[in-house]
Parts: sequence; C-alpha cells; structure tokens
Amino acid sequence: MSPNLRPAASVFIIFGFAGDLTWRKLVPALFNLYLENRLPEQFAILGVGHKHMSDQGFRKHLKQGVDQFSRRGTADKEPWDQFIDQFSFLEAELDEAKSSFELAKKLANIDKEWGTNANHIFYLALPPQMIEPVVRGLAQAGLHRDQKHARVVVEKPFGHNLETARLLNRLLGEIFLESQIFRIDHYLGKETVQNILAFRFANTLFEPIWNRHYIDHVQITVAEQVGVAHRGHYYDRAGALRDMIQNHLLQILCLVAMEAPISLDDNEVRNKKVDVLHAIRPILPEQVNQYAVRGQYGGGWIEGEHVQGYRSEPNVSPESATETFAAVKLFLDNWRWQDVPFYLRTGKRLPARISEVAIQFRPVPHQTFPPSAVLDWRPNRLLIAIQPEEGILIRFEAKYPELEMRLSPVVMQFYYREAFKIQPPQAYETLLLDMMRGDATLFMRADQAEAAWKVITPILEAWETIGPADFPNYQAGMWGPETAEILIARDGRSWIMPTFLRCQEDVAICRVVAEPES
Ligand code: BG6
Repeated sequence: MSPNLRPAASVFIIFGFAGDLTWRKLVPALFNLYLENRLPEQFAILGVGHKHMSDQGFRKHLKQGVDQFSRRGTADKEPWDQFIDQFSFLEAELDEAKSSFELAKKLANIDKEWGTNANHIFYLALPPQMIEPVVRGLAQAGLHRDQKHARVVVEKPFGHNLETARLLNRLLGEIFLESQIFRIDHYLGKETVQNILAFRFANTLFEPIWNRHYIDHVQITVAEQVGVAHRGHYYDRAGALRDMIQNHLLQILCLVAMEAPISLDDNEVRNKKVDVLHAIRPILPEQVNQYAVRGQYGGGWIEGEHVQGYRSEPNVSPESATETFAAVKLFLDNWRWQDVPFYLRTGKRLPARISEVAIQFRPVPHQTFPPSAVLDWRPNRLLIAIQPEEGILIRFEAKYPELEMRLSPVVMQFYYREAFKIQPPQAYETLLLDMMRGDATLFMRADQAEAAWKVITPILEAWETIGPADFPNYQAGMWGPETAEILIARDGRSWIMPTFLRCQEDVAICRVVAEPES
C-alpha cells in the first residue's frame, strides 16, 4: 500500500521454512520482488529449523516451487542463481532457547557485515503449538527489543476459536508492540480486494447509493474447485467457517461495508473495518439454523473427472463431521446497512474456482414503462470479480434497438487484464513488501481478529451443541447443499450464479456480453 520505495535493509527469518508455504508462496513472491527490483539492496533470507535435505537439494526444491507457482512461470537461471545466493540456513531446534541465541549471533554478524541496523522479520510459518516456544525464545535472546526494526509475522490459523485467539494475542502482546505484529490474511493482498477501497473511495459516483436506501442485499461467494488435498490434518479440525469465513470473507465484507476512512493510515483503515465487525448483529443460539448452514462434499464429478468424497481424503476421519461448505446471513446494525442482508458462502469442491461480490440494487420505485416493455427487466447489479477474472461489471437497463419500446439488461465491464495489460502482483508479493516497509494496513490488528472470531462463535457453538450433521450432503461439483438454497430462498432471493457461469441463468446478459452488436 505504501508508495513506490525500496525498503530498508531486511532479513527475512522464516521459521518452518521447509513447509509448503515457503515453497508455494513466500519464495515465488520474494523472487518476483527481486526481479522487479523491489527488494532492499541489502537483503537476506534465513531459514530456521530442520531442512531434511542437502543445501543443494533444498535450493533445487525451491526452484521447482517457483517454476510451478510463480505468476511468471519458470525462473531464468541467472537471476535465480543470484537471488538464491541470499538464502542461508540455520539448523536449529525451534523450541530450544539456545537456537535463539545462535540466531541472535547470526543476525548481529549480518548487521556488522552490512554496517546497518536491518529489519528483522520473524516469519512464523508454524503449526499453532510451536508459536509460543519460538516467540518466547526470541524474547529470551532480546530479538524483540528493537521496536522499529523487529517484526513478527503470524500466519493462519490465528487461533482455533475466540479464546485461543485471545491467548495468542496476549502472548504476542507481552513481547511485541502491536505495530510490530503482522497477522496475515492473504485475501487482503489481492489486487481486486484492495481495489474495493479504490472503487468506493476514489469515485464520487457510487458512495451516495452505497446504502440501505438503494441496495437490496449483498452476496459474497468464495468458491473453490479443489478439495482438501494434503491438508486434511489441519482442515479436519478447522472446517470452512474457521478456515474461510472467519477471515477472508469477513475481511471482504468489511471493505464493502466500511465507512470512508480519512486517510490510508494503517490504524485509520483498520478502525473503520473493525467498526463493521462490531456492527454485525450477534446470532442468537436458537436462530443459528436460520442464519447459517453447513455442508460436506461426497464423491462427485468435477470437469468430467470423478473425485472422492471428503471423508475419503488423506488424513481425514472416515466419520468426519467437519464442514467443507458454509453459508451465513449477516445483518449490520448501523445507519448505513440496517436490514440489508449480507449473504456469505464458501466451499470446497464446488463447480469452479470463483470469488465474487455481488451488490444487488433495489428495483426502481415506480415502473414508468408498459408491461410489454419490461418482460426482461432486472434491477441494477454491480459485480466485483476477485478471481480468477479480476474486474467490475455493472448491469443496467437499456432500450433494445427496435421500433417498439422494450427494455433489455446490458453490462458495462472493466477487466484488469484488458484495461492495464499487465499481470497484477500476487497477494504475497504485496504483503511481503509491506512487511519490509513496516506498513500494517493490509494486516489484521488484534482487535480485528478477535472481533471476527466473535462473529462466528455462536455458530461454532451451536453446531457443536447440535452435533454432527447428516454428511455428506452435497456432491462434489455442485453448489453446496440444498439447505444453502433454502437459506436465501426463505427471503425470496436466490444465489447469483457467478459471472462467468451465468449463461443459463442470465441469457440476455450473456447474449449482450458475447455479441455486443446484436
Ligand atoms: C486459505 C485456506 O487461507 O485460502 C485454504 O486455508 C484455501 O483452505 C485458500 O484453499 C484459498 O486461497 P486462494 O487465494 O486460492 O483463494
């Protein structure tokens, strides 16, 4: 979010560097920053822990990660060799205090060699139970003390529930200042998610109608086609509500619903977002069934291929009661949004990977046109496509070009790839750069994380009390369980088919989009 400056000298210290995150996300993102000259001139990555491979073997493994996951594809040899030279290892037991002293010595040597006081970014890509020993070790070695340069990054999951999130905040707060703590929600680094701020607050056009007087309801869909893959160990304890709604979907909701911040100062933006979370009407235990539904995929078909059900996935209990789909209806008790429902849904093994926000406007207050003109009439709708397509679409009514008066919906579209003709950075590139710059705008503050847990706690508790649902209740390749349709149909509405799959539902729009001359 900060202006285009190269950050000051930095060392990234990755705890848990042999895991998936370093391979798939961190190293590809850092390599892209390197290619774009965005890394500091004095820069190093230090992996701490066990690496179970030779140095050579590990570097090769990291290169494969870049080739496979970087937006730029296969890495060229020369820049890769230069980049990877900045990587070194510290073989250490993470829960032994002596490791932190060794680390402190190593960091002091780097500073001496560089003649700097570099940023030390302690990146905890660790299972939750390892966070406390590592953080306490850093404190014992005094590595937290430089409040300007020492930063700690905490990956998801941030706690397992409100209580554990509070404990984690307390632990981090004992050792670091809030300004030193960077809690990651990678959705906040996505270009289109950040663009919600620009769209709303850099234009005068939309803000006057962005309220209960004009908006009927809002839908936020984050659909995934993938199953749980190799993450069964973690996911089977988490489920869709904790894994996606508590963080990614609620953060999107905050950006859609927040009041205009006075500036992009990190605390100003986060204050406005946390206000939204506080305004969410608590769901009473006896109402949970009307406001939230859960689902779990059984076997089914995705793009012509048969896929197994969730309970047959590796490291998942064959009787698992974990939800792989969740949908919730939320209300915000404030002047702007009173009585406007926000419908959120997410799930694995849905027909496509699509994330979208749909703002559905109210119908016109009075119909000027004769019935014969409005057979195909639809209220305005604004779509914010987050992925895989990135863009904004606005649906409005136009006169169909013929001798009679007849209305037809049309769509104005803006796509990033067409408008800017560049490949947007990946979320982690933005977030890693912001960490080095010390800009926390796109990271969750302690109170935000706790407020988000508060929103879903009644649902988690009610589901625990009710006990296991009758799972599996949707086939892989379907849009979740029938109860999700009922949740919204009860209000006389339906889920909006994501833009790129809408042809069947919205024939007129597809016709106009596909054949603009017709
Ligand atoms: C992660 C979740 O935070 O986000 C995963 O733990 C999920 O379960 C992933 O698959 C989705 O991220 P993206 O960027 O692919 O939409």
